[in-house]
Amino acid sequence: MHFKLLKLLADGKFHSGEMLANTLQVSRTSIWKMISRIHDLGLELHSVKGKGYKLSEPLDLFDHESILKNIPADLRVKIQDIKIFQSLDSTSSYTMELLRSRELNLEGNRLFVCLAEQQTAGRGRRGRPWISPFGHNLYFTVAREFNTGLSELEGFSLVIALAIVRVLERNKVHGLGIKWPNDILWQEKKLAGILLEITGDPTGLSQVLIGIGLNINANPQSMFNVDQPWVDIKTISGSVPDRNKLIAEILAEMIKMIDEFEAGGFVAFKDEWEDFDALKGRQVELKTHTNQPSGILGKVMGVNKQGALLLQTKEGIETFHGGELSPRPVQNEQGNQPR
Ligand code: BTN
Repeated sequence: MHFKLLKLLADGKFHSGEMLANTLQVSRTSIWKMISRIHDLGLELHSVKGKGYKLSEPLDLFDHESILKNIPADLRVKIQDIKIFQSLDSTSSYTMELLRSRELNLEGNRLFVCLAEQQTAGRGRRGRPWISPFGHNLYFTVAREFNTGLSELEGFSLVIALAIVRVLERNKVHGLGIKWPNDILWQEKKLAGILLEITGDPTGLSQVLIGIGLNINANPQSMFNVDQPWVDIKTISGSVPDRNKLIAEILAEMIKMIDEFEAGGFVAFKDEWEDFDALKGRQVELKTHTNQPSGILGKVMGVNKQGALLLQTKEGIETFHGGELSPRPVQNEQGNQPR
């Protein structure tokens, strides 16, 4: 119920307790209790005697119609459904559960999209949490069926990162880099992360879940326990994009690029991806899933036609695949010998 109240307050203007109680057909005491739940979401509210309640800044909440109307009609038909939640444990866990229980059947090459204003148990890669405060960022999962088998999907997550970077660049968010395979960074700080999960038959028909978290206008107080350097769009570009438009643009770009990827693989995106390679030419050490050193050091030489990482080690140029290991720049790049 407090989400209904939030919708009324989203304009950032004053609303009297009496008007709110009448509109929602509840008592003033219920309004007061709901207000305290809104505080718990990490949103700042002012209450002024004689005037009522007001959010400290307007909230641009997700809206089904606004998203759809910003996707060109020929691409919109590729969307099977968009589900919007105010609060969810995780958009990826929810979508995975729908697929596993067969409540959701993906239709051909169409996308199922699930987004939430807040996640209470958002998941990042390598078992990390993805801190997901209410209303200011993007948290969404896109599910799509493939019948190519897992081995053909090597460069897929790199293509998704590129789709997001293309849209952000068009929205004047410049200076971005991609850390292989798909972390989107700005000045070494994380702007967006992608979690790819797969269910179904790894050699045949599979359902791929693409979970995306993108920081837009994050309140530092609600992000205080994020365990890595982070940044948001507002800090980079000085302005806050309309979230409904932004997600629509990302979905449209993803639809186009996923179809292209399915038809021709990663190779068509390789050069563009390398233009954003945040590690190219740098000395890195590969870390395992559990963040342990693998003992492999080398200089990043870009990616191959499938999207695998190329590393110049003591043995020559070696190839590493997504999901296995992840590169970290070494602190003193001059002093380390590749191995
Ligand atoms: C990473 O660690 O870089 C990946 C982060 C992915 C976070 C997104 S937010 C939407 C979706 N739901 C989740 O629980 N995780 C992904």
